[in-house]
Amino acid sequence: MAKPYEALMGSLGRAMFYRPERQRVRELLSRDARPKLLIDGEEYPLFDISMNGLSFLTANGSREWRIGTTIDLELLLHGEPVYHGTAHVARIEPGPRGARIGVGLMTGFLDLPEIRRRDDNKLLGEQLDEGAATQRARVPEAYREKVSEILHFYQYYRRALDYHERRFRAEGATDAELLRFAERAYEVLREPYYRLNREATRVAAECIADRETLIAAKEYTETVLAPLMLDIPFNNRAYLKPLGYPGDYQVMLYYYNKGFEGDTVFTKVMHRIGIEHPLANGVCTRKDYIVDLMTREHDRVAGERGAGGELKVASLGCGPAREVSDYVAGREGWPCPAVFTLIDQEEEALGVAYRACKREIGRKDVPAVLDLLNLSFVQMMNEGVPLHEPESQDFIYCTGLFDYIKTPRAQGLICALYHLLAPGGLMSIGNASAPQDCWWTPEFLGDWTMIYRTRDDVMELGDQLPGSAERKVEIEPGNAYYFLNVRKTESSLRG
Ligand SMILES: C[S@@+](CC[C@H](N)C(=O)[O-])C[C@H]1O[C@@H](n2cnc3c(N)ncnc32)[C@H](O)[C@@H]1O
Repeated sequence: MAKPYEALMGSLGRAMFYRPERQRVRELLSRDARPKLLIDGEEYPLFDISMNGLSFLTANGSREWRIGTTIDLELLLHGEPVYHGTAHVARIEPGPRGARIGVGLMTGFLDLPEIRRRDDNKLLGEQLDEGAATQRARVPEAYREKVSEILHFYQYYRRALDYHERRFRAEGATDAELLRFAERAYEVLREPYYRLNREATRVAAECIADRETLIAAKEYTETVLAPLMLDIPFNNRAYLKPLGYPGDYQVMLYYYNKGFEGDTVFTKVMHRIGIEHPLANGVCTRKDYIVDLMTREHDRVAGERGAGGELKVASLGCGPAREVSDYVAGREGWPCPAVFTLIDQEEEALGVAYRACKREIGRKDVPAVLDLLNLSFVQMMNEGVPLHEPESQDFIYCTGLFDYIKTPRAQGLICALYHLLAPGGLMSIGNASAPQDCWWTPEFLGDWTMIYRTRDDVMELGDQLPGSAERKVEIEPGNAYYFLNVRKTESSLRG
């Protein structure tokens, strides 16, 4: 199960003192575990769990809870008790719709590996008892038919391309000739494949009204189709998520590099089709959109402060920061010095960004400084950005992050970023657009859930900003991502 973006903690999250790791319940346990948490006999939704404590949600806010209070805690999974003892209230985190209460156990501990083993054994029993026929019966026939059509498409072309690749190789074909074969097949297969993906999206839309049907349809897709695609580099990385979350820097690099990767002609073709999907293509066009905004903001700052001024840019969830290296590489004339602050919870992504940006800065020999921060946005919201003053950044942008953050928290994060924005500065926040005609592919085939937002939903992300903030929503040229663009017309600092 992939980790949600707000659970990714960056380097500061990895403390030197051992603290049992907290895990979201849905990451740890099967859907059938149906956890039941009783606090003093009353049931509350369980949020996360560790070996020495857990947290739960309350709808009526933090008022009735006091730090240090002793409570009676009982946890049941699959209807059976796994823990009963006393605990104390250790944390109260008020949220937009209530509060999250963290408690520490006072007796014993939660043996998570054992709990997981019991959960897996239950699952095994259910799988053997109920079997494949039950899973199939839960999935609407129209959906099964579409999956079967995609499966046939896939297997038909795998067989055909493998056969001709063997034949060409036996005839002594060169790598360049095999690449031309892949290009030819790619041109023919891409449109029919995307058409099937759009049709699957339409049929899948009928599965989402009922949660049980949705789960069954997703599991059916992951049983029938996903495993067959694991020799395609893009599908492998996107589906297996080796770093624990979807859309890591390597997936972004696949999109930007637009290569034919894979061991066979067929896998090369399907890799290329995967990375040219409309949502993937939009990642490249939104990167160019940010490059355009950066160009204008650089000119604006140089115009206002002269050639001795300094442009300050910050990117949150920067990944490989391809827009920065592309900007440096493509910029004609460098209007004034610039400092780029690149923030990501992923150290490996920062390594890739550093190398690519440094290389272009060196090649162009421009006065540009890189400041890389291994930081989570959760820490940023709690503690600010280390060494960065409020109202210090002229251009702040974020792509590929808000698509994973629910609206109340996203609104809070936008306010925190606005706090960093200098008067006159621009903040630009991207989000996958709704309605989408192709979301079946990431959601069902890739187990990659995103929050698609309409123009109005994206505008709503800025609802907590001060009235003086000038807001507008634009769509990038690929029509796949909206941008909430906010201009700060006056300082928001008091006094
Ligand atoms: C889909 S990628 C987008 C990368 C880049 N902005 C782009 O468009 O190419 C999302 C990035 O957000 C980062 N990320 C995820 N959760 C984060 C968090 N809690 N704090 C900071 N960065 C996070 C990931 O490590 C990843 O590099």
